[in-house]
Amino acid sequence: MKISKNILVIGGCGYIGSHMVKCLLDAGHKVVVLDDLSTGFRDSLLGGEFIAGDFGNRAVLDDLFSRQPFDGVLHFASLIQVGESVIDPARYYSCNVAKTLTLIDTMKQHGIGNLIFSSTAAVFGEPEQVPIDEKHPRLPINPYGMTKHMVEIMLRDFDRAYGLRSVALRYFNAAGADPDARIGERHQPETHLIPLALQAVLGRRPALSVFGRDYPTPDGTCIRDYIHVDDLCDAHLLALEYLWNGGATIAFNLGNGAGFSVQQVLDAVMDVTGAPVPVQNAPKREGDPARLVADAALAKATLGWSPRYADLKTIVRHAWQWEQRRPH
Ligand SMILES: NC(=O)c1ccc[n+]([C@@H]2O[C@H](COP(=O)([O-])OP(=O)(O)OC[C@H]3O[C@@H](n4cnc5c(N)ncnc54)[C@H](O)[C@@H]3O)[C@@H](O)[C@H]2O)c1
Repeated sequence: MKISKNILVIGGCGYIGSHMVKCLLDAGHKVVVLDDLSTGFRDSLLGGEFIAGDFGNRAVLDDLFSRQPFDGVLHFASLIQVGESVIDPARYYSCNVAKTLTLIDTMKQHGIGNLIFSSTAAVFGEPEQVPIDEKHPRLPINPYGMTKHMVEIMLRDFDRAYGLRSVALRYFNAAGADPDARIGERHQPETHLIPLALQAVLGRRPALSVFGRDYPTPDGTCIRDYIHVDDLCDAHLLALEYLWNGGATIAFNLGNGAGFSVQQVLDAVMDVTGAPVPVQNAPKREGDPARLVADAALAKATLGWSPRYADLKTIVRHAWQWEQRRPH
């Protein structure tokens, strides 16, 4: 029988965090969510205790950590828009780096360990080879990626000096939704391809821009690695178990290893919805590589993780079910 643990989910009202809360509750754990609702939604929580607050506020953390012990902390809260991070890096370094330093320093003071950190493929910058494994150089090309890279370095040093063990999980493109369509992707503004395409089909936004059709890929559009949000959550749960079993601080790349082009995604959206996606062709964007695909072999071998939803159509179908019933 598995023992129920007490887990803190920071940013649990967001897209990935809310699916994580579902996954933890299904696994029989007790969940406390800390979220300031800056980009998340209170009604995305399917259970657990909710605490409204900023994870960068030491007084909030001191209060939380002195009231109850936690067996693990999952940290999803951050600013996530690459373009915005270029325009306003101060906000990104402040939220993603400075507040995370406050978090891990307070965890250290209260003797709380076992942190899972949401990192990103953006730590790698321009890919030198694809698929991208953990040995690939980390040379971020925007402040968003740099903030995540800096936190990964802080986590390494906090383990060396204080024994605070952690796992950084570098997601490529999180996609899909709860198969029962209770929760799903709800970013404002939305920048991710699948919800944008589905919203264009529903007429909720104008035609979708396809940035570049002359990349060196089979159909000329960019290739990305889409990983189902529930598969990501499975990896988090396994990463927690890895730390509980004494695993060392580490970072894993998470993707399904099969890239899909923008055009393949649009074709899958048409298959699932029965309607073509209204599109307009647009120039390439700076810093958009032709192909970004994860080599997730290390996570699979170390954690025993394997994605359940590798099929693009299933990912799109779950996102479509959610998109049709999501609150506005
Ligand atoms: N969505 C993706 O495809 C993707 C890819 C790579 C990495 N990531 C990383 O995964 C994490 C979650 O992404 P998401 O798509 O679920 O984002 P999201 O914006 O939906 O969720 C973030 C949550 O954190 C909360 N939050 C933000 N700042 C906070 C603060 N100071 N105090 C308390 N709560 C705060 C927000 O209210 C929100 O509920 C992020 O760290 C992001 O960088 C996401």
